[in-house]
Amino acid sequence: MWTLIMAMVVGGVTAGGIKLHLSDEMKSMLEKSNWDHQNTALSIHGPITLDVHSSFKLKKGQVFLKSHIHRRNKDCAHIKRHRPLSRDGVYTIYPAPGMNKTVFCDMSTDGGGWTVIQRRIDGDTNFFRNWKEYKNGFGHAEDEYWLGNDAIHALTKDKKQILRIDLMKFSREKAHVTYSLFFVDNEANKYKLLLGNFNGTKGLGDSFSHSNNSYFSARDADNDNHKANCADTFKAGWWFNACINTNLNGEYRKASRKDAKELSWYHWGNSWRSLKSAKMMIRSVQIA
Ligand SMILES: *[C@@H]1O[C@H](CO)[C@@H](O)[C@H](O)[C@H]1NC(C)=O
Ligand SMILES: *[C@@H]1O[C@H](CO)[C@@H](O)[C@H](O)[C@H]1NC(C)=O
Ligand SMILES: *[C@@H]1O[C@H](CO)[C@@H](O)[C@H](O)[C@H]1NC(C)=O
Repeated sequence: MWTLIMAMVVGGVTAGGIKLHLSDEMKSMLEKSNWDHQNTALSIHGPITLDVHSSFKLKKGQVFLKSHIHRRNKDCAHIKRHRPLSRDGVYTIYPAPGMNKTVFCDMSTDGGGWTVIQRRIDGDTNFFRNWKEYKNGFGHAEDEYWLGNDAIHALTKDKKQILRIDLMKFSREKAHVTYSLFFVDNEANKYKLLLGNFNGTKGLGDSFSHSNNSYFSARDADNDNHKANCADTFKAGWWFNACINTNLNGEYRKASRKDAKELSWYHWGNSWRSLKSAKMMIRSVQIA
């Protein structure tokens, strides 16, 4: 907790990088009054909320207090909890102190509150990227993107997130899988993956657990269990083992060559056929 003595500002103040707005009513009251600012107390409770309380003392001795509650939601589940009517769309989340991300929230699937960490829909975004790009994230939340490994670590580090992957073929057939736990370690531990129990819709086998306990690899960072650099062979950043059974960050192809370089999930018809879309999203276990 820290305290900030604020100078007299009418029209808005910047505190801790956050722009606060005073109401018009309050602004005109301040402009017309003879007043002394007394203090502003700023308390930060983790990355989630910031409460600002300002008190002003008028010359005649009257004191008034104005409180602003600026909510900083850690993930889409928090947004859904505070605003239950939120719809699918792009939101800003604050996965860790000093970190903000623009993200797509799935607020409709199975109760909503899902933070989308990866999305493929049309091939507009290139996913054959280097370590730094996978670390920080790339693409656009309204379209195709990778949220970023640092943010994914921040969101999963309490080991209470489940992972859901939704897939669709070009024939429009849909399916999904869940893992009862999804944890991605920090950069020092090469974003090592830990998966809980698998469950999937009919006909969909477990293609991701081959990556369980694997490090993340990218085109310039070979951390896999194969002689070759799997990331380079399969044109993606991923938790490669030796190497994959699913390539959700692989090349987007409308005309499939049935090749593991493509966006694919092998245990869906035991084929490397290219998929039309993929979405990886996480949500805390409690809300489920
Ligand atoms: C989000 O983070 C960026 C730096 O990554 C910073 O420039 C920007 O001001 C932040 N925005 C908010 C609303 O915190
Ligand atoms: C992943 O590995 C852990 C042990 O490190 C194990 O407990 C867990 O069951 C494995 N998950 C899957 C899906 O195989
Ligand atoms: C597994 O997924 C299927 C299909 O979504 C669902 O009907 C079933 O209840 C799930 N089982 C468990 C143990 O979660």
